[in-house]
Amino acid sequence: MQSGKAFRWLAAAMLPVVVAFTPSPRVLAQATAYSDKPPLLLGAAWYPEQWPESRWDADLSLMEVAHIHLVRIGEFAWSAMEPSEGKYDFVWMDHAIALAARHHICVVLGTPTAAPPAWLTTKYPDTLRMDENGVRDEHGNRQQFSFASGRYRRLAHEIAEKMAERYGQNSNVVGWQLDNEYAEPSFDPEAKAQFHAWLKSKYGNIESLNNHWTTAYWSQTYDTFDEIPARQDKENPALLLDWKHFVSYTWKSYSENQITAIRPHADKRQFITTNTMGWFDGFDAYIVHSNLDIAAWDDYIGNEHYDYFDNGARHDLTRGFRNKNFWVMETQPAFVNWHRINSSLARGQVRDMAWQAIGHGADAVEYWQWRSALNGQEQYHGVLVGADGTPVPVYDEIKQVGDEFEKAGKALAETTPQSSVALINDYDSRWAIDFQRHNRDFDPVAEMVAFYKPLRNQAQGVDVISAHAPLDPYKLVVAPGLNVLPREVADHLLEYVKHGGNLVLGPRSGMKDEYDGLNVERQPGPLVDSLGGRVEQFYALEDKVSVSGDLGSGTASFWAEQLSTRSQDTQVLLRYGVSNGWLDGQPAVITHKAGTGSITYIGAWLDDDLLAKITASLLQESHVQPILPNTPDGVEVCLRSGANKSVLILINHNKAQAHIDLPHTMNDLLNGASSASVDLPAYGVAVLKANK
Ligand code: GLA
Repeated sequence: MQSGKAFRWLAAAMLPVVVAFTPSPRVLAQATAYSDKPPLLLGAAWYPEQWPESRWDADLSLMEVAHIHLVRIGEFAWSAMEPSEGKYDFVWMDHAIALAARHHICVVLGTPTAAPPAWLTTKYPDTLRMDENGVRDEHGNRQQFSFASGRYRRLAHEIAEKMAERYGQNSNVVGWQLDNEYAEPSFDPEAKAQFHAWLKSKYGNIESLNNHWTTAYWSQTYDTFDEIPARQDKENPALLLDWKHFVSYTWKSYSENQITAIRPHADKRQFITTNTMGWFDGFDAYIVHSNLDIAAWDDYIGNEHYDYFDNGARHDLTRGFRNKNFWVMETQPAFVNWHRINSSLARGQVRDMAWQAIGHGADAVEYWQWRSALNGQEQYHGVLVGADGTPVPVYDEIKQVGDEFEKAGKALAETTPQSSVALINDYDSRWAIDFQRHNRDFDPVAEMVAFYKPLRNQAQGVDVISAHAPLDPYKLVVAPGLNVLPREVADHLLEYVKHGGNLVLGPRSGMKDEYDGLNVERQPGPLVDSLGGRVEQFYALEDKVSVSGDLGSGTASFWAEQLSTRSQDTQVLLRYGVSNGWLDGQPAVITHKAGTGSITYIGAWLDDDLLAKITASLLQESHVQPILPNTPDGVEVCLRSGANKSVLILINHNKAQAHIDLPHTMNDLLNGASSASVDLPAYGVAVLKANK
């Protein structure tokens, strides 16, 4: 932080301007330096280049009234910034940033590289993405570039550098978003050549690759790296996994190309990020985030119904990318335009979602978008302001959120969620399962969420982390489907267990090595000895199988593994009922003490109720207590803590009122009430601090 440097986004810009309303004294008192910007930011994606400059002030005034203190601009605006090659026009952007500052609104600048201008793709068609079948993309839409193209990267570097030279020291610019939602790889000749070079540097020689990929199978043996196809489907699983690794590192270097353009010119206080997409598995997000300052994601409801567990898991996943607080760079003002039925969140749910983001560790929530362009592909998307330029109904709800962010911001500054339970998200394993699901209903993300749900409900806090992350902070670590289990990861897990950690493995764990080859030991491979048991055989299920034991009874769907014990002190927690004969009466869940900790193996996809009984028992054995016991169903409890302070956020996701007893009298920062219980209306929120 450069504390001496004035952050003039408020002070300088205010002087000559008469605004039509008075910002709250709280805001005026803040933010004379970057580090003083509001701790919780409410924002909107704003595209000034789509509107006459004469309109901007009206928009920014409406934002300011709604307590919006952040806009993201610039992404997709390449043709406005560089109308022809080497001819730049940043005057409009200078004006937009300065005017935003006058309205006490800081700026995240998006580099525009997800939408190259027509002059660029016309002059340099080799920068266009190529699909797996060799068909080049054409201009129009967006994301039509090849992520591996050296020429595209040079052009991207240039525009990012021009922006950074101009705005790197602008005290109203708080950060940078690179590109937008990295997604599609390219299979053009340049990308393929890079894939071959990447494989060569990984394997050293072709014999090693042939060996790890078992290319003797179907006569795939390669003589040179150049012979290897680039595919993302229907290929040797080893190739598919390495392609995903290559894609992950290529996106990382795609970022690096722009980071090296921005960083030398940018003040240290400006962060660099990109916006990702929750469970999206096009790349390994841990690799892609390794050179970014913070994680940021676009939080859209993936189906017609807001499943707060799935959404909460995606927040926790994103927090785990950098293991610290993150931003919601985009979220929906009630509805989107790209789903089967673009139904709206109910009144109150937009606020509910905003507070859920904060509860899970977001420090900013930004709505996409402020106002729809009059034409273009997204005319039906939810907005804050209609085509007539006046607020739509959800504007008031968002304004309320902004008001509340100001009220609770100070208490929530420098706080973060903390948990003693971790769920392992492993891209290699998710990919390996997806390449060969064996049962098409075995969706690794659905499985993650199935485990997350009871853990989150019972422990009221879960970190979602990589298999390589430090495990010491956790009393319980759950790996729902650690299909790919290299020796190094197994050792990491064993070290945790040896020192008292409790490890739970879900079905399909420990089947593969890091090349997606079968482990030569039965599942869970390198953990068999410590588990004191193993998988004798796996079975894809068409019909449910009953499962029962001391912890309760229920059913298994999709997948069931016949387990065996190989040590006298391995306990069988659940057994299968009558099924295909192979499974009948056999162990379905086993547990074993190892070191001063334990390993439990769950060999089947259990129904939600039975899984909840198992997780309750595991949490109890691991001495994990809920933050607030006995909360009603559908009420989410989030705790953010920092040095000597903690704030409790309660969200009633139900359609009906809920009553919650508190451990002692607490102060609701949103309405000033002080009480030992709260009654939350449908979608109601309380943000509570202990009375001192
Ligand atoms: C994505 C993009 C935005 C917009 C929204 C619409 O998140 O980043 O540009 O298209 O979807 O929901």
